[in-house]
Parts: sequence; structure tokens; C-alpha cells
Amino acid sequence: MAHAVSGAEAKALRLDSSGTEIEEIEIRLLLEGIHLCYGYDFREYTLNPLRRGIFTAMAREHVPTVSAYQDLILHDASCMQRFLSTVGVNVTSMFRDADLMRAVREEVAPMLRTYPSSRVWIAGCATGEEVYSFAILFEEEGVLDRCTIYATDLNEDMIAVARLGSYPLERIRRYEEAYRESGGRGSLADHYAVVGRSARFHRSLQSSVTWARHSLVGDGSFNDFHLIVCANVLIYFRDSLQQHAHRLLYDSLIRGGYLALGKRESLLSCPDRDHYEQVRDGVNLFRKTRW
Ligand SMILES: C[S@@+](CC[C@H](N)C(=O)[O-])C[C@H]1O[C@@H](n2cnc3c(N)ncnc32)[C@H](O)[C@@H]1O
Repeated sequence: MAHAVSGAEAKALRLDSSGTEIEEIEIRLLLEGIHLCYGYDFREYTLNPLRRGIFTAMAREHVPTVSAYQDLILHDASCMQRFLSTVGVNVTSMFRDADLMRAVREEVAPMLRTYPSSRVWIAGCATGEEVYSFAILFEEEGVLDRCTIYATDLNEDMIAVARLGSYPLERIRRYEEAYRESGGRGSLADHYAVVGRSARFHRSLQSSVTWARHSLVGDGSFNDFHLIVCANVLIYFRDSLQQHAHRLLYDSLIRGGYLALGKRESLLSCPDRDHYEQVRDGVNLFRKTRW
């Protein structure tokens, strides 16, 4: 006897025939589980990069479904740590945006020189290449010794690598041109020692750096800064989360302080965008004009 299909059954049938809808439910459950179990909150990250990261992580762990992956990650903290490195998209490099670096050299460094001490926050610093880039710039501009640089990332494994300040020599040599384009005053090689096949950045560059774990999603403001660099992180956040992070960055800047964003980022989602002025056309460096 034919029987009428209830609303719930119809929805279940629809879900059965559509892998992507089930997959989206599984991903949501995975993210809820991670949040409840470990406190990391990826629920408002943009879905596509997140999905790619999840599937890469699943392949590495040899699990066939998101639900199976959820089971694994909730019971194995080392799996969670490996997930962070995949899903956080930790691609980085030195002097990544030469125009921005030149603007910081020419606009921000002179302002920092007027203070006896100043604070810089580099948020989402990954494995530290960006931090050494700014430390080199500040050293060349004569402001490093009066600067404290707070370098933070969600992922402690990234910070551990960053702290060492030692990278494959071949790779670091390839940044020589970017260094020059960003206004470098000598040679990038002046700033590191060659140890075997590694380039080890001089300890003096680290003397002003404080490394710490900090999440732009769950953690609050911890100081007021003359310059905040937050590049290529907000791009992975949905609009609501970008708003939240922008508010945190805005609240953490002194009046007259500078905010540097990645090339593909903007102030569009920033609730306080009217209180910033762009320092140079085409460069994502903004100055906070109000308190
Ligand atoms: C693509 S990398 C950008 C690295 C560097 N800023 C650059 O531009 O080269 C993104 C970094 O953001 C970090 N990240 C992701 N979510 C974060 C969050 N909620 N709070 C702080 N850092 C986060 C990741 O761990 C990763 O190291």
C-alpha cells in the first residue's frame, strides 16, 4: 500500500540523494564538535577553503567520511593539531606585499621614531617569515630597539617554527628581490647567518619580538598598538566574523595608529571603516583617525 511521505521523510530522502547537503551537515557537526571539545571556533570561516582543508586532512588520516573524521579528531588531540595546520592555510612568505612594506617604511617608521617606545602587533603570523620581514625593515629604519613586536597565531606549532628563525637557505635566497622591491637598504643576506643548508636570522631581530598564541575569533584585545599587521587571515572569515575581527583590531589601535591588511582584503566589513583613512592609493595601509 502506498503511503504519504511526511515532511521529515521527504527531507531525509532529499538529503540521501544529495551528498553535498549531507556533507555540509557533517561539516557543521565537525566544527561544533571541535569547538566544544577543543575551543577552536571555525564555524564562521568561509566554507570552500575550509572544505578543501577538511578533505586534505581526511586524505592524510585515511578516513572516508567527514563523520569518521569527526570521530577521530574528537578522540585524538594530535589529529586536532594536524588539522590546525591544514585548515589554517599557513602559506606565507617574506616581503609578500612590496608596496605595503615600502609604505610602512616611508609612512609608519617615521611616526614610530617620534615615540620613545612603540608596539606592533602582527596577527596570524604563521611560521614567522612576515615577522622577520618587518623586524628587518624596522632595524634598517633604526626603530627596532624601541619597538615591541607581538607576533601571534592561532596555531602553536606555527609559532614554534617561527621562534627558531631558521629556514631553508634556498627559499630565503629567493626573497632577495622582494626585499629590494620593498625598499631594502642592503642585502637580505646581511640579516642571517648560513648554517649548513639553513638561513638563521640574527638573534638581534628577535630581541624585540614576543611570540604568543592568540585567536582573532575567541580572544580579546591585549594592548594598544601603533601598528597592526593582519594580512591574509580575514580573507578566510565570513562577513560576520570579519566584522568581529575588525572591531578587535580597531579597538586595539591607538588614535593615529596604522592597520595593514593583505592585498585581497579590505575595510568593507569593518564597522568602523569611516574612522580610517587610506594612506596610499592601491595599498592596504589605513590610519585610524578617531578614538
Ligand atoms: C595564510 S596565513 C597568513 C600568514 C601571514 N600573515 C602572511 O600574510 O603571509 C593565515 C594564518 O592565519 C592563522 N589563523 C587562522 N585563523 C586564525 C585566528 N582565528 N586567529 C589568529 N590566527 C589565525 C593561521 O594559523 C595561519 O597561520
